[in-house]
Amino acid sequence: MSRLIMALAVWLVASNALAAGTLVIAHRGASGYLPEHTQPAVAMAYAQGADYIEQDVVLTKDDVPIVLHDLTLDATTDVAEVFPGRARDDGKHYAIDFTLDEIRQLRVGERRRGDGPAFEGRFPDGVNILRVPTLAEEIELIQGLNQSTGGDVGIYVELKHPDFHAAEGRSFPASVLQILYAYGYRGADDRVFLQCFDEGTLRFLKDHTEIRLVQLVEDKNLTAERAQAIASYAQGVGPWIAHLTDRPEFVVAAQEAGLEVHPYTFRADALPRGMKSYRALLDRFIRNMKVNGVFTDHPDLTRRYVDSLGATR
Ligand code: G3P
Ligand code: CA
Repeated sequence: MSRLIMALAVWLVASNALAAGTLVIAHRGASGYLPEHTQPAVAMAYAQGADYIEQDVVLTKDDVPIVLHDLTLDATTDVAEVFPGRARDDGKHYAIDFTLDEIRQLRVGERRRGDGPAFEGRFPDGVNILRVPTLAEEIELIQGLNQSTGGDVGIYVELKHPDFHAAEGRSFPASVLQILYAYGYRGADDRVFLQCFDEGTLRFLKDHTEIRLVQLVEDKNLTAERAQAIASYAQGVGPWIAHLTDRPEFVVAAQEAGLEVHPYTFRADALPRGMKSYRALLDRFIRNMKVNGVFTDHPDLTRRYVDSLGATR
């Protein structure tokens, strides 16, 4: 074998080994297969080999952190039927207007269009077995599975709409940190990330916790300067995949600034325009761009892909 071929082979093995360490972050649990953020979706994500499982968090009327993507209950529960007359003037039922006891009475189903898109062909409607979990319940499920399987799956908590919670007079970050600390998540070495779109909330958290922080980014400002600014208060950055596709050089800039890069969201049943297959999507982001982790609705497919790159985790 010539030296050039040998060098290329060594580079390929090293490159794949790096990519094989990419974190599989189950987005709202295994939400491609079961209604998002339900306990079965969490258990399924765990069994499919996720490294981390995501929790979007909002507060109830009685200040309990629950795992729910939207501020409102309309897109994923039967709240309008169970509690007629409890909507606000905009016609929506806000989780913060309901106690945990009330929210426990709701039936959860596959998402209808709300703060995010809905997807055809996923879990069928009309199944009366799923409920909205609290953050504490979800942690207990994951920690229980860690004990019974010998695993070490982490949690990846997003504080949803801190401005809304502040306007409602709530100490949202404190309520979430209280739960995390109670379950032993305290430091940078613990299997936990805290993520948020709001920079002010992350800067506040930087001064109040050692837990690793991730700045979610939905705008197109993906520059080296932005990466350096984020690195002054966070350990990671989560750009939207469509924007990262336009700015692949941001991955290197962010990593050079000391940030992990965890883009969102990888969906086998909703590929970006022009992408031919889920494998091609993963090839672009994991093998070529070398992001450090991916939020995915399909942890099984993503786990299989990452493992196929050939390194032990
Ligand atoms: O947290 C990463 C990703 O989940 C952000 O988007 O709307 O799905 O919470 P969203
Ligand atoms: Ca999220």
